[in-house]
Amino acid sequence: MITLVKDTIDNKDIDRLVSWLKSYPKLTKGAVTIELEKKFSDWIGRKYSVFCNSGSSANLLMLYALKEGKYLKNNKVVVPAISWATDLAPVIQLGLDPILCDCNLEDLSVDLEHLEEIFKKDKPAALLFVSILGLVPDMSQLIKLCSKYDVLLLEDTCESMGCEYKGQKLGTFGLASTFSTYFGHHISTIEGGFVSTDDLDLYELLVSMRSHGWDRDLSTKTQKQLQKDWNISKFNSLYTFYYSGFNFRSTDLQAYIGLTQIDKLDDWGLKREANFKSYQNLINNKYWMPYERPNTFISNFAYPVISPSRDKIVSDLQKNNVEVRPMISGSMGTQPFYIKAYGRLELKNASIVDKYGFYIPNHPKLSQKDLEFISEIINKGDLK
Ligand SMILES: Cc1ncc(COP(=O)(O)O)c(C=O)c1O
Repeated sequence: MITLVKDTIDNKDIDRLVSWLKSYPKLTKGAVTIELEKKFSDWIGRKYSVFCNSGSSANLLMLYALKEGKYLKNNKVVVPAISWATDLAPVIQLGLDPILCDCNLEDLSVDLEHLEEIFKKDKPAALLFVSILGLVPDMSQLIKLCSKYDVLLLEDTCESMGCEYKGQKLGTFGLASTFSTYFGHHISTIEGGFVSTDDLDLYELLVSMRSHGWDRDLSTKTQKQLQKDWNISKFNSLYTFYYSGFNFRSTDLQAYIGLTQIDKLDDWGLKREANFKSYQNLINNKYWMPYERPNTFISNFAYPVISPSRDKIVSDLQKNNVEVRPMISGSMGTQPFYIKAYGRLELKNASIVDKYGFYIPNHPKLSQKDLEFISEIINKGDLK
């Protein structure tokens, strides 16, 4: 079986973890989590990162902190039609109004013309941008549009950790960005995720809201200020909640795993990019190929294919024990939970991806033989 994903936590990592556990450390969120957050921030090029129990929690936490912190000028948030369920879900859960934007057919992120129409007509507060499968979007144009229409740029970088646009890592362009460290993503902490930002006020909101809304993990200066503002004694502060928070913490055990994952991330990114380039050469799909923008680094998460012969190719791949999945969530406008709330929404390009899109394995442990085997099946099945 050629699987979509191979665990990035290997036997050596487990052995290392076991010997650390033998020192009987504290396992709940503590010093190791702070070390991981610092290491990740340095690696990505941001001032602050908050380690959470998943990328989905990171999305919900980020949006809620922005809402509570009055960063949003209104309730409208643009979400790409091609994205993940937990990009759209938190917008709905928080009582915000989602506006779905069609995708482009180059890198599968938002269609800039449709985005500008939405910006003009609806004047949204924020765009929760998603870079799909590590394909690198036109960040300059995106930033221009967001600043022209005064829309906050937020980045869901869960599928594109380590990708670069003109030498700058995705996840460092917007006010805040999220990452997933779930098994199968670029690095794994079993389950996990980050929110990263350069904004100190937002960071402190995120930290407090990650743990119930209390002040325990905040700087002494902020703790003192909050306790003074609300006339709270040191003793009572232990159970004083300044924000309506969550418990989205991960653990030091998982943070410990994350520390060495980051060390391997650059090499894995190179391998993912090399696999992507091999697929680009090997696959002969006349209908559609992903666009590789100049001056970018594509640490491809999985390789996307769009073909009207999808059903045949998928069945051929499955018969040959190659794992294959639909193109992320297809179009959000056709997902039952969206239809129930707002009715079905067909968008031109997203509908094509929904109908004809799928993705095939790309992970650092694939061999050239695997890539050739998979590509040959696709080439034989691609009838159009
Ligand atoms: C774009 C995107 N955002 C968010 C998530 C959620 O991450 P997690 O599985 O860690 O909750 C995923 C998961 O694959 C994703 O692909």
